[in-house]
Amino acid sequence: MSFLFRKKEKKETEEPAATHVSSATSSAVSAQSAALASLEEKSSSSSHAGAEDQEVLAIRNHFKAAGVSKRSFVLGTTLGTGTFGRVRIVTYSLNSKVYYYALKMLKKSEIIRLKQVEHVKNEKNILMMIAHPFIVSLYATFQDERALYMLMEFVIGGELFSLLRRMNRFSNDHARFYAAELCLAFQYLHERNIVYRDLKPENLLLDKEGHLKVTDFGFAKVVPDRTWTLCGTPEYLAPEIIQSKGHGKDVDWWAFGILIFEMLASYAPFYADTPFEIYQKILAGRIEFPRHFDTHAKDLIRGLLTADRTKRYGCLKEGAEQIKNHRWFKGIDWNDVYNRRLTPYYVPTVRTPSDTSNFEQYPESTGADIPLSAEDQALFVDF
Ligand SMILES: Nc1ncnc2c1ncn2[C@@H]1O[C@H](COP(=O)(O)OP(=O)(O)O)[C@@H](O)[C@H]1O
Ligand SMILES: [Mg+2]
Repeated sequence: MSFLFRKKEKKETEEPAATHVSSATSSAVSAQSAALASLEEKSSSSSHAGAEDQEVLAIRNHFKAAGVSKRSFVLGTTLGTGTFGRVRIVTYSLNSKVYYYALKMLKKSEIIRLKQVEHVKNEKNILMMIAHPFIVSLYATFQDERALYMLMEFVIGGELFSLLRRMNRFSNDHARFYAAELCLAFQYLHERNIVYRDLKPENLLLDKEGHLKVTDFGFAKVVPDRTWTLCGTPEYLAPEIIQSKGHGKDVDWWAFGILIFEMLASYAPFYADTPFEIYQKILAGRIEFPRHFDTHAKDLIRGLLTADRTKRYGCLKEGAEQIKNHRWFKGIDWNDVYNRRLTPYYVPTVRTPSDTSNFEQYPESTGADIPLSAEDQALFVDF
């Protein structure tokens, strides 16, 4: 059997690493530093429950008061590259303590070229209004002439993509563990009318204990009803996106079905060499399950990969509850899931708090920048 693995896009853009040392130590900063330190300690312990919001808020408040810019951080290695830039680990020093964060850097010229200004604003606005145990926390955003910056928690365990390629496929229980955590994240987003629209293993990270964190809200959007933009990754697109019928939250549950299949099979259910052929297969809707698939997993996947949105699991009146009550999740205590009490099946190897060995290696960035016109700069005033 031959099938193509989705290739990760690797771009060589963005600027070389700077070596500025932190310059943000005002009195406002020191007043909040104790809070920051204790919060950091707490968030590295395993108790997350309802305190999540408070912790995230306090860290956001700290950076708001500190008024950070790129010079507040020492830039480290690249953790991942994406469409308009890259994400680096950065060091933040405060009162002789160091903290590690992930800094997503988006080139303004690229954002404009690819007509993604609105999407980038959505990404920031949405991440800034949410806090959830299985969603990456955004702490601050800022900009300079060339780029937009998003300061996030550093999720140390690497991408689910890398783990899946390394292990080839996950056992039924292992896959169910990630699916359960993701299901709660989607339920939380959908309750707030947020559609995620970019599910794939590259955008799922593992924290140091092996729990899931959804990152990359570049396509997320508040959609009370329907929207029409074509976006996402070919293998994960629901039929209604391909057919430009207008889509809503339902597309996330379709993609959830694709992800469960890919975790159990090691490849996506509809794969081909070109997007066009992939779309044809998605529309034809024939799923071939490998023989080792669990019966309940197959039933859930069929329910999720249902072209008719009035019948697709997760899209009916009871929403995510229908999925949570499915037999594949039998025996799962959803309260335990939320409180991160399920035991992860894989714990990343982490040697130090700034260990980046769980991420792939990326070439250093090259490429010069085109200066932006005043008119183009103005597009980002409210970022
Ligand atoms: N908070 C984070 N901690 C660690 N790595 C991250 C974090 N956010 C993103 N990354 C890494 O950077 C990659 C690109 O980031 P992402 O937000 O997905 O950008 P893009 O929108 O360009 O795809 C991710 O696939 C992941 O490997
Ligand atoms: Mg991404």
